[in-house]
Amino acid sequence: MSDVESFLDQRVIDLVNSYITSNANPETKVTHHLPPEKLRSKIDLTLPENGSSLDELYLTIEQYLNFSVRTGHRQFFNQLWSGFTLPGFLGEIIASLANTSMYTYEVAPVATLMEKELIKKLGSICGFKNPEGMFVTGGSNGNLQAMMIARNRALPFVKSHGYKDSPELMAFVSEEAHYSFEKSANILGLGSANLRKIKTDDRGRMIPEELAMAIEQSSQKGKAPFFVGATAGTTVKGAFDPLTEIASIARQHDLWFHVDGSLGGTVVLSARHRHLLRDLVKADSFIWNAHKLMGLPLICSILLIREKGHLLQTNSVTGTDYIFHDEAYGACDLGPMSLQCGRRVDALKLWLSWKYYGDLGYAERVDRFFELAAFAEDIVSRTPSLELMAPRSSVNVCFRYIPNTSEDIDKFNLDLREELARKGKALVNFARLGENVAIRLVIANHELAREDISRFFDYLIQTAESLDR
Ligand SMILES: Cc1ncc(COP(=O)(O)O)c(C=O)c1O
Repeated sequence: MSDVESFLDQRVIDLVNSYITSNANPETKVTHHLPPEKLRSKIDLTLPENGSSLDELYLTIEQYLNFSVRTGHRQFFNQLWSGFTLPGFLGEIIASLANTSMYTYEVAPVATLMEKELIKKLGSICGFKNPEGMFVTGGSNGNLQAMMIARNRALPFVKSHGYKDSPELMAFVSEEAHYSFEKSANILGLGSANLRKIKTDDRGRMIPEELAMAIEQSSQKGKAPFFVGATAGTTVKGAFDPLTEIASIARQHDLWFHVDGSLGGTVVLSARHRHLLRDLVKADSFIWNAHKLMGLPLICSILLIREKGHLLQTNSVTGTDYIFHDEAYGACDLGPMSLQCGRRVDALKLWLSWKYYGDLGYAERVDRFFELAAFAEDIVSRTPSLELMAPRSSVNVCFRYIPNTSEDIDKFNLDLREELARKGKALVNFARLGENVAIRLVIANHELAREDISRFFDYLIQTAESLDR
């Protein structure tokens, strides 16, 4: 038996099972919350000149798991994702086991067909008649590529000759849109000043009249509006921009209309809640993070384009014949349309999970997220010491604790969050809403039940009361 074979013994399977099982145990700490210097003293991070034994590695793996944040724990609410589905996890393992790259059909035949099938399925759910798409490295990358396609549409010569004497391009997103749009404006050479952030209403939705006004103003200043990015599920409030109105403004001004559904894309799977994305069919492009609400291990993001042809136009380059040379099946290669060369097989985990739950299973899961978020919102509304900081639109609940003894409510809430993490009870994030700190609870873990939400608020209130003396 080789070393590797003996390593993959029952110990590893037991370790994985026990890790997953203990995520469900409320007594398990979500995080050990150690400062870097303390953590460094707990694990030997040095890399030796001579190798180590598998037993030594095994010990380090145990330590790694022990001191890592348990993001699948039912008191982990810190990010817009948490935990994973079993078929998704299996897909991740099998993808690593087969270890291939998505560029050619020759080297990834099954994965290529699965990815194409998923693009067809996702495209048809969005109502796109002739869609194309690509699994990308995340929502940020999807936003970047959408903006890049839009730029090449507006200024086709840029791909080969750069900006030269072209007018300054102007892109529009809401003030609550993800920061990746600003990075995209930076990467694409637009300059962050040429990304206009449009005002939102009290729910965090872009105000269409403000968008129309901003487009007019920038045209008057000699700029060239080319892109509008709406958000379906904003990062902090979980708000959905009004796609119908934004689509119509985009069409009127001949702008590329992109929808960032990194968080809320999955909501289209629910008949009950898909009205939040009404008129998504009018989008030119759409990014969807299945690693958020679909419960897939990170990363699983799909960029969809309504009409075929843009991905190849934008990403094709010369000098690729050393890799794309399959006479027989080269037409199936996904590499020429991709910004990446080597690309992970992220399609497998989504395909397996979808096969297992089906459309209806996923629809139920989305509905349950909304019910649990409403349950959390209800606890906030019924608890006199808690205050809802923004109307709830989807799976994010933003609130704060109002202390009796402290004037500085922001500091109190930051301390409260820190104390919950220090005790390992729960990890939940915060954001500033205007001037105020709000705790942002996100319902994204497929294992969550009402009792987990109640337990979170019990911990929070007990901890707050102990600080509020
Ligand atoms: C609305 C929105 N867009 C984009 C992103 C970026 O996604 P990723 O982390 O996959 O790059 C996020 C991340 O949370 C997000 O909330």
